[in-house]
Amino acid sequence: MKKLSLIISLSLIISLVFVTGCDKKTASENKVDEPNTSENNKEVDTDSSSNEESSSSDSNSNSSSSNNSKSEIKDNSSTSSTSNKQTNMSTKTSSSTKTIVGKTTKQYNIEKVNGVYYIKGILIANKSYALPSSYAPGGLKSEFTIAYNEMKKAALKEGISLSIVSGYRSYNTQATLYNNYVKRDGKKEADTYSARAGHSEHQSGLAADLNKISDSFGETKEGKWLANNCYKYGFILRYPKGKQSITGYVYEPWHFRFIGDEAKNLYNNGNWITLEEYLGIDSKY
Ligand code: DAL
Ligand code: ZN
Repeated sequence: MKKLSLIISLSLIISLVFVTGCDKKTASENKVDEPNTSENNKEVDTDSSSNEESSSSDSNSNSSSSNNSKSEIKDNSSTSSTSNKQTNMSTKTSSSTKTIVGKTTKQYNIEKVNGVYYIKGILIANKSYALPSSYAPGGLKSEFTIAYNEMKKAALKEGISLSIVSGYRSYNTQATLYNNYVKRDGKKEADTYSARAGHSEHQSGLAADLNKISDSFGETKEGKWLANNCYKYGFILRYPKGKQSITGYVYEPWHFRFIGDEAKNLYNNGNWITLEEYLGIDSKY
């Protein structure tokens, strides 16, 4: 009898230990440090005295003509039915339609997904390629903020402090900005430094102005660090010096665009290749 009760107590202890040991870990790991909200999701209107954007009522008036070269050649309406059969993982399918609307001079396909143009998987927003007014991620996208936080941490280790001055801007905010610049400087001048509504990368949630909106920023240690290191984190110096005839905009040492891995192909030892050159596209109204 004594033996039996000893066996029962032993098995009770064993099962208790087993159950506790099998408790699943709570998944509070993998949390990504995000920039603070004032840097991230808030729309930041740039200082009116600075060399940044404005607004326009005629914002999209030219986009259709500028898109004429992109004659639609094929409709692949099946987008992301990429289910991973081997691992049995279900991949979210979307009802979006992907259409190849042309080829760049570098022979890359120009794809249009729900009104947004992509080349080599890179979202395009410039004078020739507009975003729909309905395109509103509402803030900087996670791929931007994850990479930005990583870059910011690395910069700090070298004594370089980074901050976001202007991140996401909605279509309407961009329209207001551009219109104000047109009032101040006239349309011709405004078009050299400010995107019309629908044409700004800020609307994509993949670009931001860092630290200081000033031409002299490129000469500061922060500006130099960014220009020489941002590509490691997937960012490009979007409007390099002397490339106005290609990008459509004057030098902006503060404007950085996230494109991911391809960024290293544009760095060119600091002699930045523009996105337009790399992909073989125009940026013209
Ligand atoms: N300053 C850039 C071109 C923009 O307005 O998006
Ligand atoms: Zn900018």
